[in-house]
Amino acid sequence: MRILITGSAGFIGFHLARRLLAEGDEVRGVDNFNDYYMVALKEARNAQLEKESGFAGRRVDIADKAALKAVFDEFKPEVVVNLAAQAGVRYSIDNPDVYAESNLVGFLNVLECCRHAESQPRLLFASSSSVYGGIQEMPFREDMKVDTPISLYAATKKANELMAHCYSHLYGMQTLGFRFFTVYGPWGRPDLASVSFAEKLVAGKPIKVFNNGDMLRDFTYVDDIVDGLVRCVRKAGGLPQYAIYNIGNHRSEKLMDMIAILAKGLGVADPKLEFMPMQPGDVYATYASVDKLHEAVGYEPTTPLSVGLPKFCEWFKEWKGKEVK
Ligand SMILES: NC(=O)c1ccc[n+]([C@@H]2O[C@H](COP(=O)([O-])OP(=O)(O)OC[C@H]3O[C@@H](n4cnc5c(N)ncnc54)[C@H](O)[C@@H]3O)[C@@H](O)[C@H]2O)c1
Repeated sequence: MRILITGSAGFIGFHLARRLLAEGDEVRGVDNFNDYYMVALKEARNAQLEKESGFAGRRVDIADKAALKAVFDEFKPEVVVNLAAQAGVRYSIDNPDVYAESNLVGFLNVLECCRHAESQPRLLFASSSSVYGGIQEMPFREDMKVDTPISLYAATKKANELMAHCYSHLYGMQTLGFRFFTVYGPWGRPDLASVSFAEKLVAGKPIKVFNNGDMLRDFTYVDDIVDGLVRCVRKAGGLPQYAIYNIGNHRSEKLMDMIAILAKGLGVADPKLEFMPMQPGDVYATYASVDKLHEAVGYEPTTPLSVGLPKFCEWFKEWKGKEVK
């Protein structure tokens, strides 16, 4: 298949591209290599992909409609997976403009390019668990009312879901949105907890642990996420014209277990922990119901922290070793 991935130099885009290339697909990647985090990490992921004959990367900003259209015209994708976005909840407080640019203007351009493309691609796109905002009821289900976002990031992701619905309705395009839940794994984003905890552990710095460590979180291994996406890429028929799916781990894991496995994997015998009370607005547990995606394509996350985190640690040690040299 011909698959266009936006955000291909990003954490999830890189893993998805690698898996599709391994399965023999032709993949075109689009990324603007912005400096939200270490550009060297994005370049290194892209360099891995460029080694594969089925891959070609393009340095394109999805907010640049003409440049994006040129990629569609040349490549004629059958499926588009839009992962390019400005991520991060806290960053949106000081940098709101970039969210409007990438997540709203950029996303509209992706929809417009899909709408006008002769190849009539199906669109899969990244939403986020952050659309659930301050909802306390668990598990999070797709049919919950999520009209009260509590960050600009979440508001743009909810807006994407609405924009996609409109394009499916008006133009008969298939659009499937995925609410990702805290993804971790090798080549991870430096602002994610797994990476920032690992950085602190190896530097001997204390990790702040809220609610005295008594918390459960829905950590999802990146290969499980990729597996769910690939199932939807492959299933051309039988899926609705428009749908939103949770894509998470559905089994919450203890924060303290996560830290213990990380410390062991990184060879840190005595991790420094700074126990703190619960933060206002924080919740004891988060987890997703993934029944809808299971029913649609048989999605079944299989990687517990005890299996996924050691793999992350191996990559992290290797990456840090290269950085020091
Ligand atoms: N990783 C998670 O835990 C998580 C959770 C919820 C949602 N998501 C969503 O999943 C998607 C992928 O996340 P990720 O963790 O791989 O993030 P990432 O930041 O590693 O990847 C996004 C990539 O998109 C690129 N990009 C950003 N704006 C662009 C633009 N205007 N034009 C072209 N490229 C652009 C970035 O350079 C980056 O390489 C994002 O949409 C994110 O919001 C991720």
